Amino acid sequence: MINICHTSEEIEKYRRAGKILVEVRKQAAKKITVGASVLETAVFVEDLTRDLGGAPAFPCNLSRDADAAHYTPGADDTSVFGEEMVKLDIGVHVDGYIADSAITIDLSDHQELVEASKAALKSAIGVVRAGVDTSEIGAAIEKTIHEFGYKPISNLTGHGLLRYQTHAPPGIPNIPTRSGTVLCEGQVIAIEPFATDGDGKVKNASSWEIYHLTTENPVLPRIPRVRKLLREMMEYKTLPFAKRWFSGDKIDFTFRQLVKSGHIEYYPILREVTGALVSQAEHTMIVTEDGCEVTTR
Ligand code: CO
Repeated sequence: MINICHTSEEIEKYRRAGKILVEVRKQAAKKITVGASVLETAVFVEDLTRDLGGAPAFPCNLSRDADAAHYTPGADDTSVFGEEMVKLDIGVHVDGYIADSAITIDLSDHQELVEASKAALKSAIGVVRAGVDTSEIGAAIEKTIHEFGYKPISNLTGHGLLRYQTHAPPGIPNIPTRSGTVLCEGQVIAIEPFATDGDGKVKNASSWEIYHLTTENPVLPRIPRVRKLLREMMEYKTLPFAKRWFSGDKIDFTFRQLVKSGHIEYYPILREVTGALVSQAEHTMIVTEDGCEVTTR
């Protein structure tokens, strides 16, 4: 069996990122109440991550209700949490070694739906070990969510994590698949079941705030204003960033220019196709010979 060897230093950085994330998640969860500012919550998460010695691996995601993923508030967002199902999805990295974890905070009185994705994550973690096929993980997730009477979101998956890469192979399905991937010892993965009382699929919405560079070493544009902004983005390598993290002249216009030139891509908000509520639970883990070490618990 292949063993992906990490030095003890690397493992330590994965663990440190996980520890920071646990503390940030705990403090942020308390802030998510009806009437609290969505933007202030996201900024709180990102600031606390830095204060504790980490860096955001991606902007704090606070997708609500039918929005399953990729929502982070923009600079002028004035929304507050209502009686909603809030997914708090946090990414922390230490020197590029990432921890990724999400919980659902239900302010909408649908606790069973929250329990479904939580229980599915627990079942999935129970089958992880070196040599397991990712399809078996998907099967465990689907079975648990079905037992609650809900559907998993079939076109969203967990993922591998590599240094400075939030979405590395393999995809970890939320349903059984025909051809999976066999996990190896030392691999770092994030498992993230989503449960819904809708159709079980998401589609791209027509708004976004999160972007990433398409390459770590882009060709620099000639226009000084565009080049300056691109240089600032390069600080994040190819990790996702929010538009609100940047300021200056003509930001919206410059972002559009950089999308057009292929320097950056955006992540549209992913919304359940029928507009149904979605819950999510996610942990990061290091695969071991006979199980896994969850870094975000
Ligand atoms: Co993730």
